[in-house]
Amino acid sequence: MSSAAAAISSATSSARVHIRPTGAALGADVLGLDLSRPLEADTLQALQAAWDQHLVLRFRGQQQLTVDDHIRFSRHFGVLDQRPLAAKGLHAQTAALPQEITVISNLRQDGQALGGLGDGEAVWHADMTYQTIPPKAALLLAREVPAAGGNTYFANLYLAYDSLPADLRQQIQSLECVHDASRNSAGELRLGFADTTDPRQTVGAIHPLVRVHPGTGRKSLYLGRRRNAYIQGLTLEDSEALLDTLWAHAVQPQLTWGQQWQEGDLVAWDNRVTLHRRDAFDPQARRYMHRTQVSERTA
Ligand code: OGA
Ligand code: MN
Repeated sequence: MSSAAAAISSATSSARVHIRPTGAALGADVLGLDLSRPLEADTLQALQAAWDQHLVLRFRGQQQLTVDDHIRFSRHFGVLDQRPLAAKGLHAQTAALPQEITVISNLRQDGQALGGLGDGEAVWHADMTYQTIPPKAALLLAREVPAAGGNTYFANLYLAYDSLPADLRQQIQSLECVHDASRNSAGELRLGFADTTDPRQTVGAIHPLVRVHPGTGRKSLYLGRRRNAYIQGLTLEDSEALLDTLWAHAVQPQLTWGQQWQEGDLVAWDNRVTLHRRDAFDPQARRYMHRTQVSERTA
């Protein structure tokens, strides 16, 4: 920012938020904000508007954020979820963090994992859509990143819906899909779940394939994750074929954007209208992120 621009923006705080779209199907950088400092109401309003428009916001250079800053900033967008109890066998260093922080990392110390998801690929998904009321958003802060690999890609599910052939859009209007709770995006079986491969046996929440975003009023495709998904009322064969078609459509490269992480990147995604996936990376490399999750609950 030039000093003239800086002078103007200190006069009107809403002008402090400079949004630079990625130029891809979704995503924008938010420039010129230090998230460790208190934010004015009109700045927050501008951020919410940018988030609604771009679905994923990236704030670079936030390495100075403390754990408490990260939590405080995240709370502007709603009630925060606590990290899953199933964080079994986690290192004491992680257990000592506030309950609002989940660690995503491949690092191990004293034979124990510091966080979840390891170093492998995380397949396309939205977070926890197997719950009746899935989370609204997540804010992932990179504290250590590999020199290469571990990129995270996002897909725009408004565009996926809008660009469907009209007959397909019509066909899915009133269909509902069961979202599998049994495995996480790294493919690990969750505690207490049977290892089923028949989508008709899937245990998890049922959601419409088309949802309306409460903030924007726009319709989007709603897919969750592919594995064990099942469209209610269809034969298994028809459900599989329709889901394959919708998934192939939704994750076409022109509907996505890829984030190459730098230390200090805070990336916030609207979990209701995006999917994400992560590349694998070198197991010897260090990747360590802190994550908060915003609930759809209001209390
Ligand atoms: C997540 C997730 C991907 C990544 O935190 O929900 O899928 O890049 N993370 O670590
Ligand atoms: Mn995820």
